[in-house]
Amino acid sequence: MTDKTRLKTLLAQIDAANQAYHERDAPEISDADYDALRREAETILAAHPTWRAEARALAQVGGRVATGFTKLRHIVPMLSLDNVFTPEEFTEFLARIRRFLGLDQSALTFVAEPKIDGLSISLTYEHRRLTRAATRGDGTEGEDVTANILTLPGLPRDLPADAPDLIEIRGEVYMTKADFLALNAAQEKQFANPRNAAAGSLRQLDSRITASRKLSLFAYACGEASQPVAQTHWQYLQKLKEWGFAVNPLSAPIPESEAATFQTQIGAQRADLPYDIDGVVYKINDLTLQNRLGFVGRAPRWATAWKFPAEKATTLLEDIEIQVGRTGALTPRAKLTPVNVGGVLVTYATLHNEDEIARKDIRIGDIVELQRAGDVIPQILGVVKRGPGAPFAFPTTCPACGAHAVRDEDEAIRRCTGGLSCPAQVLERLIHFCARTAFDIEGMGEKTVREFFTLGWLKSPPDIFALPAREPEIATREGWGPVSAAKLSAAINARRVIGLEKFIFALGIRRIGETNAKLLARHYGSYTAWRAAMEAANVIGSDARLELGSISGIGPTIAQDLVAFFAEPHNLATLDALTRHLTIEDAQAATLSDSPLAGKVMVFTGTLSMARPEAKARAEALGAKVTESVSKKTDYVVVGEDAGSKAKKAAELGITILTEAQFRDMAGL
Ligand code: IVH
Repeated sequence: MTDKTRLKTLLAQIDAANQAYHERDAPEISDADYDALRREAETILAAHPTWRAEARALAQVGGRVATGFTKLRHIVPMLSLDNVFTPEEFTEFLARIRRFLGLDQSALTFVAEPKIDGLSISLTYEHRRLTRAATRGDGTEGEDVTANILTLPGLPRDLPADAPDLIEIRGEVYMTKADFLALNAAQEKQFANPRNAAAGSLRQLDSRITASRKLSLFAYACGEASQPVAQTHWQYLQKLKEWGFAVNPLSAPIPESEAATFQTQIGAQRADLPYDIDGVVYKINDLTLQNRLGFVGRAPRWATAWKFPAEKATTLLEDIEIQVGRTGALTPRAKLTPVNVGGVLVTYATLHNEDEIARKDIRIGDIVELQRAGDVIPQILGVVKRGPGAPFAFPTTCPACGAHAVRDEDEAIRRCTGGLSCPAQVLERLIHFCARTAFDIEGMGEKTVREFFTLGWLKSPPDIFALPAREPEIATREGWGPVSAAKLSAAINARRVIGLEKFIFALGIRRIGETNAKLLARHYGSYTAWRAAMEAANVIGSDARLELGSISGIGPTIAQDLVAFFAEPHNLATLDALTRHLTIEDAQAATLSDSPLAGKVMVFTGTLSMARPEAKARAEALGAKVTESVSKKTDYVVVGEDAGSKAKKAAELGITILTEAQFRDMAGL
């Protein structure tokens, strides 16, 4: 192998390791292996100094940032944004807003702001003094970077008298393109792009290092505020400026009809701006409307990020690998000759499923075109030059366990039938269980789970809680020591108390993602209630099954998946074993427990003056559970015009019927 090829491979491996570590927080290789890759790359670069410039653009050849920050809880969660890419998608975004609010054609006003490619930050001011700064983290809890943020020049430490007693001011920490280039030129450690450089500089345990890096901040949002600051988002931005924050000078209030033109104009300036942007954020200007629109999942309904078109490249498709997921899904992925797409080195791309490969007739050995847009996994667009390969034959047996892999009618996905006897499925479930979004066990990343799984120490999730007993043994393993083994035990022990929502999600039940886990946790409240209800729901037509089916957002397929999970004796045994190790905390009531709607089960029927989605979201925001059908469990039925059978059933069951006016009164609308 030539030095050049070897270097390319090394850079690709380093890049993959960096991504796993920094972006997914799930290291795949040990620090020692990582350092070995770096050293080898450095040796080659020392012999061929002219390759360094090219290597820089490809990968961040640098050390890892130390972890060990304290976690801080955001008062108001930090969310992400939905994306659109085309004028049609933007129009659909507008239509969704209108549908939700039940609005006619009257024009909506937005504030358009460049979408800065940095990392978001929440600054808490208490009694007008900056007291805390946290990264976004998982949206609920971030890392305490207060000491580092205090090194940013010009950031207001104090707010004037008109600021509220408590406010979370949010914005983006970024590094200018010039400061990024200067930083890479001045040091051996190379960052791949300004975003990584900003993140790496802020997430330093030693704030003197942060102080030596040139970081900037644009403020653009508000979390908690004890007093309203403005009536529109535009006024809020003016207030931020008055208080001394940098607000992006290209931000502008615009009517919806000008969004497309604004998008083109900012796109044309993109390359000349001193900082990286990847799109424009459009936010509804009127804060009352923002409030009414609220959130869905992890993103606001009142804003969207209109991203610039995806970056494209062509490369060789070296192989099609089949991965087996935790529910047995066989997912093909493309292994590519590493290629630089818009500043990021891409080695793998998604191929979605068997039909997609057939439809595009993608074969191993083809030259393919791929695209990468934002944080989305790169996709293969199609074949640009046919190689010598035969059409790809998708496996009909599981590559991990050899069991049949079957496709249900109407399903695009082929699944391994091996269940818990398939090692790949078991391993993926364990990885999912420990992941940041589930039990969040620090140090139990993919690689560690794999190591203990291979040793036979981990067969199912309860085994994780037996690991601290093996601490002396772990400490003597290669790559481990007494300190790291003790840390792992502490991290596991710290998770013996867990919220119901995370617990349900961690089980990895098919179709029970974070959103559905939350719905279930909120509906049933406690683990005991949930478990009893799920076992009882086994009988079609039973009250428990009807109740499950009536939870808004839980459709019949999901209900069926839950019932199937609870019908398996080995799953019940796993639950019993887990609960012996754990304290599962009851789900928090959705909001203020003093709201008259908190904890109430409600049904809306007939035509209301408020569009149905808004009525539902309003009630849910006040802690109510909104269901589709009326049952004995229903507390209130809100009856609009032309209400039919549901109103009748409510009357028969003696359930309290509310007019829309009474509902508005109770909801404080
Ligand atoms: S508003 C609830 N405005 O984009 C809305 N975000 O994809 C919160 N970002 O996490 C975000 N520029 O890091 C907003 N002008 C801007 C932004 C912006 C960049 C980032 C931010 C956020 C991510 C969402």
